[in-house]
Amino acid sequence: MSELLKIKELSKNYLTKKQVICALKNINLTINENEFIVLVGPSGCGKSTILSIIGDLEKKSSGQIDLKKKDLKVGYMFQEDALFPWLNVLDNCMIGLKIQKSINEENKKYVKALLKKYGLSSFEKSYPKELSGGMRQRVALIRTLALKPDILLLDEPFSALDYQTRITVSDDVYKIIREEKKTALMVTHDISEAVSIGDRVVVLSNRPSVVKNIYEIKMDNKGLPSENRKNEKFNTYYNDIWKDLDHYER
Ligand SMILES: Nc1ncnc2c1ncn2[C@@H]1O[C@H](COP(=O)(O)OP(=O)(O)OP(=O)(O)O)[C@@H](O)[C@H]1O
Ligand SMILES: [Mg+2]
Repeated sequence: MSELLKIKELSKNYLTKKQVICALKNINLTINENEFIVLVGPSGCGKSTILSIIGDLEKKSSGQIDLKKKDLKVGYMFQEDALFPWLNVLDNCMIGLKIQKSINEENKKYVKALLKKYGLSSFEKSYPKELSGGMRQRVALIRTLALKPDILLLDEPFSALDYQTRITVSDDVYKIIREEKKTALMVTHDISEAVSIGDRVVVLSNRPSVVKNIYEIKMDNKGLPSENRKNEKFNTYYNDIWKDLDHYER
């Protein structure tokens, strides 16, 4: 397994007018190529901050992020699908390329092929409001993939969906990320989701966040997230992570 990104002793303090908020303290984490890593931790512990710093949306206070690949490209997917309501599915998927002024026949073909592969071909001309929540998340993912990122940062991508939809969309998103051979770093509040989808689950402590524990999720016959939920090892991981989590904010 080759390393894609290495986070070393990463710390972050937010300076507001009133106070200094120490969000992250000496975070260490290595992300390997094609790995699916899930971050869990109490609300406000700094999960989104880690993604923002990797994506260069936020400056770190100290520490290092070593990119093992030159010009590593980062793609985001957030909780709200954030599709533009006035654009149809195809145009929504092309918007990132358009902003980058890199629309060409090849890119367009790639986006169309993804839409086809993941069952959205006949909805190219549909508008977001005509799609189900799960379909919108698939469109959002394809829009992110259109830019051919090396790593996908997913910040609670399923939390706006109802329970049943979450399960099927987790399977869809997992399949797409695996088939397209992407590396993913996902944040979730949901331990079941983390155990069912992750290769490794990183448990963060209360703020200032440190890495409390890292679980490698090993299951016989590991499959789709919905199948892993029924695996005999599932409950053990769930309970161990539950015990590790700080359940109340200080
Ligand atoms: N721009 C900012 N300015 C000041 N403080 C901030 C800023 N962004 C985040 N924080 C603070 O840093 C801490 C970590 O925030 P962050 O959003 O990373 O947490 P999180 O783990 O993603 O939380 P949640 O689970 O609620 O999404 C919080 O205390 C938050 O209030
Ligand atoms: Mg967050």
